[in-house]
Amino acid sequence: MTVPGIDSVDLTTPSASADPFSVFRALREGDPVHWSEAHRAWLITRYDDVSAAFQNKAFSNDRVRPVLERKRQAGAESAATGVLGLMTGWMVVNDPPVHTRLRKLAAGAFKGQRIAAMDEMITRIVDEHLDAFLRGSGPQDLISEVAYPLPATVIATMLGAPPEDRDRFREWSDELALVAFGTGGAARADRHERALRGLREMESYFHTLIGKRRAEPGEDMLSALMAKEGDDRLTDDELVGMCALLLFAGHETTTNSIANSVLALLRHPDQLDRLRRDPALIGPAVEELLRFDGPIKVLNRWVVAETEVRGKTIRPGERVHLVLASANRDPEKFADPDTLDLGRSPNPHVAFGKGIHACIGAQLARMETRIAVARIVERLPGLALAEEPEWKDVLASRSMEKLVVTHS
Ligand code: HEM
Repeated sequence: MTVPGIDSVDLTTPSASADPFSVFRALREGDPVHWSEAHRAWLITRYDDVSAAFQNKAFSNDRVRPVLERKRQAGAESAATGVLGLMTGWMVVNDPPVHTRLRKLAAGAFKGQRIAAMDEMITRIVDEHLDAFLRGSGPQDLISEVAYPLPATVIATMLGAPPEDRDRFREWSDELALVAFGTGGAARADRHERALRGLREMESYFHTLIGKRRAEPGEDMLSALMAKEGDDRLTDDELVGMCALLLFAGHETTTNSIANSVLALLRHPDQLDRLRRDPALIGPAVEELLRFDGPIKVLNRWVVAETEVRGKTIRPGERVHLVLASANRDPEKFADPDTLDLGRSPNPHVAFGKGIHACIGAQLARMETRIAVARIVERLPGLALAEEPEWKDVLASRSMEKLVVTHS
């Protein structure tokens, strides 16, 4: 089915990146299960369909291996296949039983109490970044100064890496994102080489750190990840993969969660005022900010069995994009979905996914976003947008190039 004005949607054009929500609205209303020639994938945009897709076994997370095999068959052994090869061990790109085992082994490290105990550490890191930000004057980029370094520092600290190594975590994370998110696009022809070089360096760094923790376990998350679950434990290679995944999954997402939240508040001064007057609202506020403009637009699935969604037949070998950012604005699920209402309750958004792969770091991500947004609102009372932000033309994530603000 085609819809006037939506022959084949491309979510990576500058206009769709600037305002994806009107494209999503048109898709939800006119063609909620849309074949996009541009993406060579199905775009699923309604909340109920996205929700059901998380439970549909025809939609597989084993989505890196097929790409890798295709490249290998084409004789394209290269830096790209090297990077993809490293990623195939990640739980997020595996189905049961491989996923089940890895997730169970990681779960212990993400226990509620362990994450809750990070509150003080995160507040300290947020305040250090804000101190530096406040020393500057005039227009400054809140992303490069605060939202971007923060999550990498948190992950490095939580894994027990010494503070002087934190900058390297950021570089590795950037390089991973170049391939995994396609950030930088085709213009970055050297992206696989850079990513592979970064990944090899990171691997050797984590191997050394693991060796140290084996000799002398600490209170850090890496030591917790090494703990045994019954007779099973992660091998050193799996531990390295897990560290890389945590850095990759937890960095850019949290950066964008903080930055998008601050922008949404600046664009809705009534809601910003509301939060200033009632700081205890920060919990539901962060849920609403994640719903309203969360960091992940689209999740990918690989089709492994024929299935039907809203009358459309979806076949093995095809790809499906679950459009989280559209599901979170579906009026069938959320009243006045385009209104930012910090007190919204209930708020069953899918910004963290759903089902067996639902974000294992959600509690940590919520805590980082809560603390960062609350401290920014409290410590920067004169915060104002200094220039119109530009959105990156990326399919998977909703991220700005810069968020230039003034604070006095
Ligand atoms: C606001 C920030 C974040 C958002 C919006 C987010 C969102 C998501 C989503 C949607 C998924 C599901 C992926 C899928 O179904 O294919 C996911 C999985 C995952 N996330 Fe997050 N995430 C965030 C932060 C974090 C953090 C801080 C960490 C850890 C340090 C983390 C670690 C993971 C891991 C390891 C998975 C894979 C889980 C699995 O496959 O079972 N995430 N995340």
